[in-house]
Amino acid sequence: MCVVGARPNFMKVAPILRALAALASPLPTMLVHTGQHYDASMSDRLFEDLRLPRPDLNLEVGSGTHAVQTAEVMRRFEPLLDEYKPSCVLVVGDVNSTLACSLVAVKKGVRVVHVEAGLRSGDRSMPEEINRVLTDQISSRLYTTERSAEGNLLREGIEASRICFAGNVMIDSLHACRALARGPTETLHANGHDPTVLGDRHGFGVVTLHRPSNVDDAETLRTLLETLRQVSQRLPLIFALHPRTRANVERFGLSTLIDPGRMVLLPPQGYLEMIGLMSGAALVLTDSGGLQEETTALGVPCLTLRENTERPITVEQGTNTMVGRDRAAILKVVGDVLAGRGKRGRLPELWDGHASDRIATDLSDWLDNSAAAH
Ligand code: UD1
Repeated sequence: MCVVGARPNFMKVAPILRALAALASPLPTMLVHTGQHYDASMSDRLFEDLRLPRPDLNLEVGSGTHAVQTAEVMRRFEPLLDEYKPSCVLVVGDVNSTLACSLVAVKKGVRVVHVEAGLRSGDRSMPEEINRVLTDQISSRLYTTERSAEGNLLREGIEASRICFAGNVMIDSLHACRALARGPTETLHANGHDPTVLGDRHGFGVVTLHRPSNVDDAETLRTLLETLRQVSQRLPLIFALHPRTRANVERFGLSTLIDPGRMVLLPPQGYLEMIGLMSGAALVLTDSGGLQEETTALGVPCLTLRENTERPITVEQGTNTMVGRDRAAILKVVGDVLAGRGKRGRLPELWDGHASDRIATDLSDWLDNSAAAH
């Protein structure tokens, strides 16, 4: 039983389902969507872009406080395990749905398989960090995307025999969809914007922002938008705005900080649009986890507007630079990139488009072996 809940889950599960179906003896799967993300732009559209089959079940939990959302997923997920009796529950990433379903499964004696295990920012004020640590503790099989993750897991007392370094399934999706990516001109047209902004001297930058730590406090968001406005005077910026961020820009009265000649606001974009925008960009400014990885795979410089990352390999080997919210640091790195001194990086180990194949093979063997042992 594979679980998805929120936008960053969809690109991880799509290639895994395909790989499980492509095994010599295919593993039967069920796809459960918790409904944590429910807007067409945050969910349905990504299912289409990623060729994800429609979920077998949708729990339709929607939004709420962390406690309400997590509890509601748990309450609605539990009866499915009684009804369908899966041999394992496969969860990905670090969203509330990941932890909620893992917790239900482990307490009912159903094994949890975690894909993208062991990533740690070291920042326990981040809800995702709590979800990561707890999910890993109760998982029976843990697939990692980079070598540092294994060290993190071993330090937390997880036995080495449960861990498998498989590579990055996000990059499998990137490989599968890159040829279908929609060009930036088409995306701007489709959203009713004039694409001439793309032809600026240095090209354009792409921005996404949605972390509560960046967008939920009025002064923090104001400072960030002022910095981005300054960046936009050198490089036009295209923002794909998460609903949370859009609501806060309006609520805090910050819309006037957007320079309409240099900053284009778009609603959340589909996967094919985002890949197209990022591929064509001079740089990306983001607080997303996924974009840090995708820009590394695409060789596009990424400025991460956070103090820490759970994906250190994107900094050590890839194109990522942690700039926090420090205006001087941001303007300096932007200047470096525009002067042709941006990071080029290299592709990390096993980010080769075949992580899901390795996971499918290992998972199938692991299930066979554990069945034989019983
Ligand atoms: C969630 C994940 C985060 C991930 C992000 C990607 C957790 C703790 N966080 O954060 O790790 O990076 O998804 O987007 O699980 N909303 C809509 N429509 C939707 C979904 C959400 O309008 O389809 C709005 C609602 O106002 C909601 C808010 O966004 O209250 C936050 O949604 P939520 O699912 O709680 O967390 P995200 O910020 O999206």
